Amino acid sequence: MRAQASDRSARTRARIRELGPWFHNLCLDGIWTAPDHFLGDYPAVKFARYADALPADLSGRTVLDIGCNGGFFSLEMKRRGAARVLGIDHDEDYLAQARFAAATLSLDIEFRQLSVYDVARLGERFDLVFFLGVLYHLRHPLLALDLIHEHVAGDILVFQTLQRGSPERMTLAPDYPFAECAIFDDPSFPRLHFIEHRYSADHTNWWFPNPACTEAMLRSAGFALFAHPEEETYLCRRAERPYPEYGAVYPSRGNPT
Ligand SMILES: C[S@@+](CC[C@H](N)C(=O)[O-])C[C@H]1O[C@@H](n2cnc3c(N)ncnc32)[C@H](O)[C@@H]1O
Repeated sequence: MRAQASDRSARTRARIRELGPWFHNLCLDGIWTAPDHFLGDYPAVKFARYADALPADLSGRTVLDIGCNGGFFSLEMKRRGAARVLGIDHDEDYLAQARFAAATLSLDIEFRQLSVYDVARLGERFDLVFFLGVLYHLRHPLLALDLIHEHVAGDILVFQTLQRGSPERMTLAPDYPFAECAIFDDPSFPRLHFIEHRYSADHTNWWFPNPACTEAMLRSAGFALFAHPEEETYLCRRAERPYPEYGAVYPSRGNPT
């Protein structure tokens, strides 16, 4: 019996090594996938700060985890009893990790290779949508939020992004005269900082909003913020878009000719 367990653990250890490097630190058969993560026990340390803000019992609910990576959040939501969990990512290597983790933990989760830009293909709305740590990796961040609103968000959006710049939020006026320029020098005005080259040696970091900008983008895409359990994380409800005529422009509905 003990020999069988140690065989399994040796196989798991070998497979974890083959599938690495891991961004998610998961415990599989007693072995950690990313024990030396530069952010510590990630993303468990992050999730611990808002885990209680989400429903403990997800029986009957559906969950979409966009940019699921090694599957940490998908696994957590399945453990809460979600009826269906779908994790999508555009990176097959991360999906292989997530599939292996779910199989090792005997959790029934679907993982599919799909970009956030293609969520319309799912043809389904989900009670909870996770969109964590992806926005700043996108060249078209507002389009992604528009697409999520238009095609897959059913009720709650759990959103997280890296942010840089002032943590202050100013009260925004509904309009500004053309001559108003000073407002743009105020660091608390919504700002999306563009990274032309690299940040943290990663060329997939494109945009860092300040918190005022994160919140404005979410509102503008039609998400009503109802909780802000930690600096980078927002819980939102799908709502009406403030400007219904402006939404996802891709895939184009018009005739390209
Ligand atoms: C920083 S990781 C965040 C992972 C996880 N959501 C979390 O919060 O720990 C970003 C993830 O987004 C994925 N990603 C980046 N661009 C994507 C896209 N266009 N569509 C789907 N996934 C994407 C990456 O492959 C990666 O797994």
